[in-house]
Amino acid sequence: MSDSVSSAVEKVNVVSGVRVTGELHIGNYWGAVRNWLELQDKYQCFFGIMDWHGLTTAYKRSDEILPLMREMYAEFLAWGVDPEKATLFIQSHVPEHLELFMIFANITPMGWLERVPTWKDAEEEAKASDTHNLGRFAYPVLQAADIAIYNGGLVPVGHDQIAHLELSREIVRRFNHIYKAKIREPKPLLTQTPTLVGLDGRKMSKSYNNTILLTEKDEKTLKKKVNMMLTDPQRARRENPGNPEICPVYSFHKLYSSADEQEWVVSGCTTAGIGCGDCKAKLAFNMNAKTEIPRQKKAELMSKPDDLNRQIKQNCEKARHYAQKTLETVRHHMKWL
Ligand code: TRP
Ligand code: SF4
Repeated sequence: MSDSVSSAVEKVNVVSGVRVTGELHIGNYWGAVRNWLELQDKYQCFFGIMDWHGLTTAYKRSDEILPLMREMYAEFLAWGVDPEKATLFIQSHVPEHLELFMIFANITPMGWLERVPTWKDAEEEAKASDTHNLGRFAYPVLQAADIAIYNGGLVPVGHDQIAHLELSREIVRRFNHIYKAKIREPKPLLTQTPTLVGLDGRKMSKSYNNTILLTEKDEKTLKKKVNMMLTDPQRARRENPGNPEICPVYSFHKLYSSADEQEWVVSGCTTAGIGCGDCKAKLAFNMNAKTEIPRQKKAELMSKPDDLNRQIKQNCEKARHYAQKTLETVRHHMKWL
């Protein structure tokens, strides 16, 4: 973790979010949740389940996406997001985001958005997938509002989000300039977001349908998925030695297994001392061990829907309360009270 995390002297809020497009997978753990758990001990944190951002591309699947959010909510709690330390909210339950979005939309020149690489590079794909829409175009403006509404000073991001965050800074800066305000400019907190290999050897991604879910429903399903992982193709036969460095299975051992176990894989693989089956069995065991408690907690949370709903409501109210105060300040600066 970088310096800025360890020096919590500067009291800033952390804002982060995950766009809702499908079930959470282990990439979300290594890319987001793991960092959240660390950050919630050091900062006032606002973590969001971003459903409006999800709708920009998944609007035709709204019926599937929306129910997923409760499950995601339970999952975040189960994996250790602590409402005592961090405010976990659902974006659409805090309509204040949209008011700030609209204000920001008016001060954001079109050219700024046209230059955003995630838009420029995806335009053809967006047209083909019927998502060349205003919501998707304005995505970074809503993100800027998500952050500013909680006075976000630090935003944990991977490299792919740097351009969005730069735009958030520019929008906030322009707001401050026009209205002589002092909203905090968010800074990126570069976090480690390892790219995981999916079951088909491509990047792990919901859109490729090659993921291991964050909380697979049981050990058997998890094992089955681990068994599907590709291995070093040189090891077509048990007696062929392999190279762990090019093997997806080993890349997961690096995340889930102890140093001794990793050494066991390296020496066993390179001397053909172990088979890929042994190697995968060990990995599945370790992955499951890490999942077992959250899996139980998630099941428990899901089994009491009223309690979960109450919790969601309470935490979203907390987020709203903060957001409303920010909006008051914003309107005050705009002389629009
Ligand atoms: N764009 C982010 C992503 O795809 C999700 C997101 C939406 C976000 N609003 C945010 C992240 C605000 C941080 C802060 O991962
Ligand atoms: Fe990959 Fe393990 Fe097989 Fe080596 S033994 S090729 S690291 S699965």
